[in-house]
Amino acid sequence: MAVYLNNAATTWPKPECVPEAMSMFITQGGANSSRGTSSKRDMSTMNLILDCRMKLAEFFGGYDNLNPLFVTFTMNITEAINVVLHGFLKPGMRVLTSSMEHNAVMRPLRALESKGVNLDILYADPLGLLHPEDLISKLSESRYDLAIFSHASNVSGTLQPINELAEICRDHKLPLVLDTAQTAGLIKLNASELGLAALCFTGHKGLMGPQGTGGIIWEPEFASQVEPFITGGTGSYSHLEVQPEDMPDKFESGTPNLPGIAGLNAALDWLTETGINNIANKEYESDSYFLEKLKTLDERIILSGMQDMNKRVSVFALNVEGLDNGILADELSIAGFETRPGLHCAPIAHKTLNTFPQGALRVSPGYFTTHEEIDSFIEALREIINQPCTR
Ligand SMILES: Cc1ncc(COP(=O)(O)O)c(C=O)c1O
Repeated sequence: MAVYLNNAATTWPKPECVPEAMSMFITQGGANSSRGTSSKRDMSTMNLILDCRMKLAEFFGGYDNLNPLFVTFTMNITEAINVVLHGFLKPGMRVLTSSMEHNAVMRPLRALESKGVNLDILYADPLGLLHPEDLISKLSESRYDLAIFSHASNVSGTLQPINELAEICRDHKLPLVLDTAQTAGLIKLNASELGLAALCFTGHKGLMGPQGTGGIIWEPEFASQVEPFITGGTGSYSHLEVQPEDMPDKFESGTPNLPGIAGLNAALDWLTETGINNIANKEYESDSYFLEKLKTLDERIILSGMQDMNKRVSVFALNVEGLDNGILADELSIAGFETRPGLHCAPIAHKTLNTFPQGALRVSPGYFTTHEEIDSFIEALREIINQPCTR
């Protein structure tokens, strides 16, 4: 069995309760939501969805007394971000983002820019870090309608000073959207304490749920200013040919990923039982172990981003002088290690980190990675780097 070091793409394995809950939903539940009668199966699907909404509102510090109506389910964070950006931004508005974003943010923004939205970039330093004073100076120069930042980079793992950034946005009454793809489930986040307009999450990474799940935690007033990006059947207001305004239906058209929600619901229970602090401590310990080994392995290895585990998450982008990262990933794969080379859907982040266009080898251990696996990876890397050059 290969050693899985690609948790930044999706976490694996999942806790056992996740596939169990999904299988149980398909074999024993299986009714659609709000599209039947009040049979036992219909009610049990509705209960599942409400239960998961309530857990998400609690988990992410939702608004309005953890009101589950302001939790929207999407297929992933990419859809969540698109729902927010396309629904809110109109031609002539100004939006600010950072130079460390994933294409889940950059591509919708570039598409909106081509329709007349003004896009501005807050540049991070070459370690991928945003500086609060740079945000203050941007906001003193121009007025923006929206800001969107990622909490941690999916390339270098650099963690942004989100408390400070959010406070500055609050002081300037600038609605802030947060991409939590690389931190949800690992770092405790509280949308209402941070004053976020919208917190976007994906279910299949640190939240340990299945692929095809994600969503948005909305600030209610902001949600009322956003138009639905996707419209269609909601199982409610069937006499209307226009989209209902009521939450959560406003942003949820079409049959949801119900087996996925069952899996995510079980994953949230697992996260709560295991404890986010325990998960973070375990990952911190094994990432520090990995980082120390990597730093002393070979001076031809160049690690991007912060070198201090307190300022990053478990996503390591590295290059080896004189060795293409794609070839390195292939050789590691042959040796039994799953990583990800290239540009990681984040060209602007690689430009900031000075790793564009060649990209980097991304190694992302996870909660279930053991010290033995790290040791064997380090040994394989050493061997590949030192083998006579036949490439
Ligand atoms: C920071 C960041 N944002 C957005 C995404 C997109 O995630 P998804 O494919 O689940 O929509 C990723 C995925 O790697 C990511 O790391």
